[in-house]
Amino acid sequence: MTVHIITGTNTDVGKTIATAALAVRLHTTGRAVTVVKPAQTGEPEGQGDLTTVRRLVGETVTTVEFARYPEPLAPNLSARRAGLRQLDLVETAAKIRDLDAPGRTVLVEGAGGLLVRIADDWTIADLAADLAAPVTVVTSLGLGSLNSAALTVEAARRRGIGVTGLIGGCLPPDPDLATRLNLRELPEVTGVPLLGCIPQGAGNLDPEKFARVAEHLDAEPFSR
Ligand SMILES: Nc1ncnc2c1ncn2[C@@H]1O[C@H](COP(=O)(O)OP(=O)(O)OP(=O)(O)O)[C@@H](O)[C@H]1O
Ligand SMILES: [Mg+2]
Repeated sequence: MTVHIITGTNTDVGKTIATAALAVRLHTTGRAVTVVKPAQTGEPEGQGDLTTVRRLVGETVTTVEFARYPEPLAPNLSARRAGLRQLDLVETAAKIRDLDAPGRTVLVEGAGGLLVRIADDWTIADLAADLAAPVTVVTSLGLGSLNSAALTVEAARRRGIGVTGLIGGCLPPDPDLATRLNLRELPEVTGVPLLGCIPQGAGNLDPEKFARVAEHLDAEPFSR
């Protein structure tokens, strides 16, 4: 099965941009890609992470969203407050398994970080465990990032979840001292490789330029 879970050290670290970059890289190697956002919160109709992915990648990517809740909160809280049905873990895992096919990679973007509740009784870590799918951790790069990346990787491993590696979600053109050092320290403290970094501003590029930026990302582990 080629399903990969894209999680992050926090919300807003660049999971969506990193997911789009992986999709572009995989397309150039001839793979079909489906991006799944199980639960999208806080976005009006016609907007959201999958819209961003399609804008950056182009229409070659297939996107699937299972639930949408109005307020920008953890999905379970947003669902509860709106009186909307929460996603069921078994059902969600089954739907994702159905999307899996030879020659295709399914990238599943969580909401926020690893232990954010998608529904009251499950997190994206539970989904990864159920699917036996590895996680990739999109991380911030500045001061404080070593701790949050290490915590996330450790929490995944404690649950028996494989960790493919880290992706720096937003690398500034003129990184400060902590960021420069972290590029080397992140693999040391987490024990997993840094697969690449997304340059700051990449989220605003057109698909052609975005594809060039994505070339620096090691997407090879996502073909398996
Ligand atoms: N490399 C980048 N270049 C430009 N903008 C970026 C970059 N990384 C992140 N951003 C911006 O930061 C914000 C958060 O990025 P993104 O949506 O990818 O984060 P996320 O981790 O997917 O957040 P969420 O938990 O809401 O899904 C967005 O407005 C995005 O445009
Ligand atoms: Mg996102």
